Amino acid sequence: MSSRSDIHSNIPGHVAIIMDGNGRWARKRMMPRSFGHKKGVEAVRRAIAFFAHAGVQQLTLFAFSSENWNRPQDEVSSLMALFVSSLQKNTDELDEKGIRIRFIGDRSAFHDALRRQIEASEDQTRDNQRMTLNIAANYGGQWDILQASRRLAEQCRNGELRPDEIDEKRFEACLSTPDAAAVDLFIRTGGERRISNFLLWQSAYAELYFCDQLWPDFDEPAMQAALDDFASRQRRFGRTGEQVERKTAAGEG
Ligand code: IPE
Ligand code: IPE
Ligand code: MG
Repeated sequence: MSSRSDIHSNIPGHVAIIMDGNGRWARKRMMPRSFGHKKGVEAVRRAIAFFAHAGVQQLTLFAFSSENWNRPQDEVSSLMALFVSSLQKNTDELDEKGIRIRFIGDRSAFHDALRRQIEASEDQTRDNQRMTLNIAANYGGQWDILQASRRLAEQCRNGELRPDEIDEKRFEACLSTPDAAAVDLFIRTGGERRISNFLLWQSAYAELYFCDQLWPDFDEPAMQAALDDFASRQRRFGRTGEQVERKTAAGEG
C-alpha cells in the first residue's frame, strides 16, 4: 500500500479521522452525550466539504468502533438512530456533490432499517468519482485483518490460491478497503494519543496528527492546520532524507 502513496504530494490522497470528543463536548455544556453526537454530525458535514474541496480522494471516518458496543445501551441506540437519520438527510446532497459513500465494518450486527439505509446510500452514490467517503461503523482494524485472513484461507482451501501466492496486494484486495490507497494522514481529535483499533494495516506508513479540539469544535482552521502540518512533513518510507530530497529535486516519485 505504501507504494501507492504519492511521496511528494502536499495534499494527502487518503485522510482517516478518529472523530473523538463528542461526549466531553456535551458534558462541558451540562448536556447529555447524545447532544454531542448530534453536534458531531455537523462537524462531519464540514469535514466532508472541506476535504473534498482540498482535493482529497478518500476520506475515512471512524463513526462507531467494534468496542463502542460496550457503551450504555441508550447511547448505542441513540447513535444507531442518528446514523439512520443522518444518512436519510444527507445522501442526496453528498450524491449531488459527487461523493461516493461506502461503509466499512461488520454490518451484520446492525438492525434491518440501518442496514437497508446503508445499502441505499451506497447504491445511490456508487458511481460518484469526486471523493470516496468510507464510514467505519462496527469497524475494528483487527477484525478487518482477521476477515481478510479468513477469506484468503477459504480461497486456499478451495484450491483457488496457494499460500505462497499471498502477498501484500492479494491481502489488501481482501481488506474492507480493497480499492483505497494507503492512509496518508491519520487525524485524531479530542486529545487522546492512541489509534484505538482503527485502520491498522492501512495506516502502516500514515503521518499521525493528534489535536486537542473536541470533534464538534474541529472547524476549517483546525482542518487546515492538519493539512499544513502534513505538508511540512518529509515522508521517507525507509529512505534517507538526502535520497528523498534528491528525488524531489529531480521531480520523481
Ligand atoms: C466519539 O466521541 C464518537 C463516538 C465514539 C461514537 P466520544 O463519544 O468518544 O466522546 P468522548 O471521548 O467521550 O468525549
Ligand atoms: C474511537 O473513539 C472510536 C470512534 C471515534 C468511533 P473512542 O472514544 O471509542 O476511543 P477510546 O475507547 O477512548 O480509545
Ligand atoms: Mg472518546
